[in-house]
Amino acid sequence: MKILITGGAGFIGCNFVRHMLKEHPDKKIVVLDKLTYAGRLENLEEIKDRIEFVKGDICDKKVVEQAMKDCDQIVNFAAESHVDRSITSPEDFVRTDVLGVFTLLEEARRRDIKRFVQISTDEVYGSTVSGSFSELDNLDPSSPYSASKAGGELLARSYVRTYGMNVVVTRSSNNYGPFQYPEKLIPVLIIKALNDQPLPIYGKGLNVRDWLHVEDNCRAIDVVLQKGKAGDVVNIGSSNEVPNIEVAKMILKYMNKPESLITYVTDRPGHDFRYSLTWERIKEMGWSPKFKFDDGLRETVEWYLDNKSWWEPLIQ
Ligand SMILES: NC(=O)c1ccc[n+]([C@@H]2O[C@H](COP(=O)([O-])OP(=O)(O)OC[C@H]3O[C@@H](n4cnc5c(N)ncnc54)[C@H](O)[C@@H]3O)[C@@H](O)[C@H]2O)c1
Repeated sequence: MKILITGGAGFIGCNFVRHMLKEHPDKKIVVLDKLTYAGRLENLEEIKDRIEFVKGDICDKKVVEQAMKDCDQIVNFAAESHVDRSITSPEDFVRTDVLGVFTLLEEARRRDIKRFVQISTDEVYGSTVSGSFSELDNLDPSSPYSASKAGGELLARSYVRTYGMNVVVTRSSNNYGPFQYPEKLIPVLIIKALNDQPLPIYGKGLNVRDWLHVEDNCRAIDVVLQKGKAGDVVNIGSSNEVPNIEVAKMILKYMNKPESLITYVTDRPGHDFRYSLTWERIKEMGWSPKFKFDDGLRETVEWYLDNKSWWEPLIQ
């Protein structure tokens, strides 16, 4: 049987495909991806002969039916994922992040799929000034992105109680690492610094994110895929909370660029101040993060410097 990885041509998805090929070489992989602006075949270039790729939309029943054939597991990464875009064009987010999840769930139900992992986000909890959210806390999303993700995961969880499906949900904190589209904070800062351009920082740069290396997240998702129980919700955090301004300063230091490049810009509407998670459940399942932020961020800077041909066409 095969595993269907939807959104496998995006940032986390393509890293997860690589992880699966390395850790589970016998498992056959189908990737279903619409190849929106964020999904690129280039992200799968050196592994394209080892997977089956289907170009299509997770909202399209026929495509989903075709892609899910002979699969017994699904991991759904497919989503519109950029908060700023959700503020200007929320419709795409509701469509993919809610209706798309519904379409996948319905086909999975029809086929009696053995395991469905819905990739959600820490943003569904909303912001907190102090303390950390556990899986038992209420959802209080702030943006059309996080609200749509909350809708998608609630629907997925309802299929456990209503239809007895084997669905689990992961909520990870902010990821960084190779293949991240250069609209997200860390690649934006690296590329601007390289070009000696101003580094745009929202508000006063005090917003805090718990940075998780994408490879650590992929290992955690695999643990949940193997060991999670139907209905489980699992936070994946890194206890590595850093204000945005510090991230910018670290990048400038590695790249020997002056802090005078930092430029404060008008804050994002409804900008969540801080995300923070407890991650006891995934720890009990045997996972902990391997990357130290200092090392992971340096490696990420190196990756963007070594792979200009990957990102240059994206910032024209
Ligand atoms: N990046 C993060 O820091 C982060 C943190 C927590 C959770 N997540 C979640 O992880 C998942 C992956 O995030 P990412 O950063 O890799 O996103 P991304 O934007 O880089 O990739 C999304 C992928 O989904 C595909 N896609 C979009 N709409 C589709 C549709 N209708 N049908 C089929 N494919 C479609 C895109 O082509 C792209 O390949 C998302 O569900 C996101 O909500 C991301």
